[in-house]
Amino acid sequence: MSEKSSNWPEWLPLRQELRSRTPYGAPQVSADSRLNTNENPYPLPDEVSSSIAREISLHLSELNRYPDRDAVKLRAAIANYVNAFVRPGGDLKSGNIWPANGSNEVLQTILLAFEGSVAGFSPSYSMHPLLAMGTGKRFEMIPLDSNFSLDLDAAISQIDLLRPSIFFLTTPNNPTGRSIPQNEIRLIVDAVSKHGGLTIVDEAYGEFSEDPSALELLDTTPSLIVVRTMSKAFAFAGGRIGYAIAREEVISALQLVRLPYHLSSITQLAGVAALSHAQELLKEVGQIKIEREWLSSQLRSLGFTVVKSDANFILFGGFKEVTAISGWSSDQLWRELLDRGVLIRDVGIKGFLRVTVGLPDENRRFITVLRQVISK
Ligand SMILES: Cc1ncc(COP(=O)(O)O)c(C=O)c1O
Repeated sequence: MSEKSSNWPEWLPLRQELRSRTPYGAPQVSADSRLNTNENPYPLPDEVSSSIAREISLHLSELNRYPDRDAVKLRAAIANYVNAFVRPGGDLKSGNIWPANGSNEVLQTILLAFEGSVAGFSPSYSMHPLLAMGTGKRFEMIPLDSNFSLDLDAAISQIDLLRPSIFFLTTPNNPTGRSIPQNEIRLIVDAVSKHGGLTIVDEAYGEFSEDPSALELLDTTPSLIVVRTMSKAFAFAGGRIGYAIAREEVISALQLVRLPYHLSSITQLAGVAALSHAQELLKEVGQIKIEREWLSSQLRSLGFTVVKSDANFILFGGFKEVTAISGWSSDQLWRELLDRGVLIRDVGIKGFLRVTVGLPDENRRFITVLRQVISK
């Protein structure tokens, strides 16, 4: 039986809601330019990889022992980074931080710890509903408007109706790239907490945005959990480190359900070493933003509709499902690009595709290939 099959044998006591599902994930096909999973395209600088290698080699003989279960050094290093770069002058301590193997695991841990139903906007990060399902929770979607913007009044009425225990808000949003302004975040967090709910602000792409982090609301809002990751701006997707930032009570609650020793010693050592080079790791963020604007203007000049992005990817449309500009449907175009070595992402929004900002050469290649295809 293939990994993706949904013909499950009767004897397998698989949960009913999983029977029709396939595992989440972007197609792992080889392509010359892989612009589909919102990674940072720049390799780690040599000094950072040497520093990680040195740290790990110094402690290799200790792999007979379990890692620090509470990842104290890594949590302190993350708190220092957040106090220096995310909310300068902040005084977060390691007790305000919970790291795990990528922010997906952090989100799953939150859903395991708290009861009740979950809600969030749509379209948004498709793992949020999947994680809710995996942890046995109902997920209610509140649609964004046709421009992928938030209708604040409608959203707050829906929150009042649904009274979710956990509300997901992603800013900048994936797959649209749009940010939600701070005052609107505050109103949503207040609406959710009025009914006793927690709001998770997923800031996986926060470093690419000019907007301040929702962390500024933490002093006045105990029901807020900000989740960030080292996978995107930090160029550390393979290192698998994401983290929650919240009040100490919230972090203590997460520890009730975390697996013992969930973060390997190697991950912890690598994370601490990488964070000691935060400045160098983030140095390409500016270049990625310049390339994002270049790609957006090129796509516009080719006649596509471009959603303004604050992240390291761009959602663009104008396909024949929606308008007749390009004469191509989004899935046809996706395939034509792949046949020419450029892999982007069909995120399942009719008439739109998402491209991750790559290296300058990859971005130029994408535009050249796109121009060739649509002028065929
Ligand atoms: C909005 C959002 N949140 C979380 C994640 C998960 O990232 P990771 O598990 O690599 O930290 C992603 C990854 O694409 C994302 O787009």
